[in-house]
Amino acid sequence: MSSITVCARFRPLSSKEKRDHNDSICIHILDAGTLIFKDEKEEDHLFCFDRVFCQESEQSDVYEFLALPIIQDAVNAINGTILTYGQTGAGKTYSMEGPNILEGNEKKKGLLPRVVEGLFDCLRSSEKVYTVKLSMVEIYMEKVRDLFDLSKDNLQIKEDKIQGIYLSGVTEVSVLDPEEALQNLCNGIANRAVGETQMNMASSRSHCVYIFTIQQECTGERRLKTGKIILVDLAGSEKVEKTGAEGKVLEEAKTINKSLSALGNVINALTSGTPGKANHIPYRDSKLTRILQDALGGNSRTALLCCCSPSTLNASESLSTLRFGARAKHIKTSPRANYNRDKCEKKQLDLDICPVKDELYEMILKKLREKLEAEDVKLLEELFKIEGIFSDLSSAEEIESAYEDVTFRTVSSLHQALDELTRTVDKLKRENKDLEAKLVETERVIGVHRDNANEGVHFLDKILSVISLFMSMLLVCLTLEKMLR
Ligand SMILES: Nc1ncnc2c1ncn2[C@@H]1O[C@H](COP(=O)(O)OP(=O)(O)O)[C@@H](O)[C@H]1O
Ligand SMILES: [Mg+2]
Repeated sequence: MSSITVCARFRPLSSKEKRDHNDSICIHILDAGTLIFKDEKEEDHLFCFDRVFCQESEQSDVYEFLALPIIQDAVNAINGTILTYGQTGAGKTYSMEGPNILEGNEKKKGLLPRVVEGLFDCLRSSEKVYTVKLSMVEIYMEKVRDLFDLSKDNLQIKEDKIQGIYLSGVTEVSVLDPEEALQNLCNGIANRAVGETQMNMASSRSHCVYIFTIQQECTGERRLKTGKIILVDLAGSEKVEKTGAEGKVLEEAKTINKSLSALGNVINALTSGTPGKANHIPYRDSKLTRILQDALGGNSRTALLCCCSPSTLNASESLSTLRFGARAKHIKTSPRANYNRDKCEKKQLDLDICPVKDELYEMILKKLREKLEAEDVKLLEELFKIEGIFSDLSSAEEIESAYEDVTFRTVSSLHQALDELTRTVDKLKRENKDLEAKLVETERVIGVHRDNANEGVHFLDKILSVISLFMSMLLVCLTLEKMLR
């Protein structure tokens, strides 16, 4: 289990804040991770985070502390999520994208272009083969829109054992270098802007989700390692009443607030349950929390950047953002490496795996031939074929489990045969005893009776042959069991 990395970031005062509030600020940063916040009633609140970024902090500081460890993990197939949270105008998009994603201003560029460059740097320095895919969606009014294909305006969120939570049918663009990735991100952001003018929607009213899927082929291990980096620029967390919204805008704001409250509820549920006891986490209450299910308490290393204004003008919103961050700090997640394969790659792997399948098949038969009679090996080979054990193996794990499976099935069917033989022998013994008694009786009454004596000899022969068969089966069973253990 690991806890979420939570940081607070305060942007410089805006010109409006300077003008209206005379440079008055509500924070006092004590050290790298601690700050004192003065609320509207002049009361002090102490907050401890993993890091506090002050107004003078650089974009590169945020990247190095928050994103770099997540990139390194994702390359090793451990999922990572970075969220920016805070009221509109607090610096979420500035932290995430910077002033312009393609501008390439070394000092000002945000997490997104830095993650792209850092990721490709990391991949270039590795000797392994990777593919990087990119998706971009926006959650607006509880609908997930594909920003690489606007015709997909209501993507469904699904879950499977291997992939975890995923967006069914989302466009995934393969990118070969940072330039291609940035160009695609730029197109996605532009599509977001098209949506804004058409639907009169401000970017602060929707959540924007950037998904990088990094897949590494492990030829030695015969499986694929997949890591995901999800960056989320959340919608503004301000209260509806404060914005003076009306009509449709009010409805929008309510929906946004609903999904952010759902996020808050999930965080509350995750942090307030009895330790060791599973309590209900309302992930399904909103699209946002469902998409973030793995990031919040699941299979992901997660970082939260709480963006705030330092001005006393926005004290109450900043305080609620910092409280949100303090609460989230208690969430525990369980990041682990992901191994999987997709359909087309599975086909390729199947082809690769064939020689291994034959090798293993031959190896088992060779071992059996060393210990057993040719006839018995042939019988076992037949059994393998009937069971279809070797017909559809496509990974090292499946071969291993098939090997165990065939061992188990062969040994258990031999045990069954032994049981049957034992029962038959017991029955024959009983019949023979009866016969002997009858023979003794006959001899006593009328002397030696040839027919009965012959019958007795015949039965004794039968018993002896069954016992010898029984012994040889027992030998086969024991040798096989010893050998396959
Ligand atoms: N750390 C910062 N340094 C300089 N300017 C910033 C910083 N954070 C935000 N800003 C500026 O503040 C304004 C609002 O920021 P923005 O990122 O758009 O807010 P949000 O996405 O939270 O609504 C923008 O003009 C942005 O350039
Ligand atoms: Mg924004």
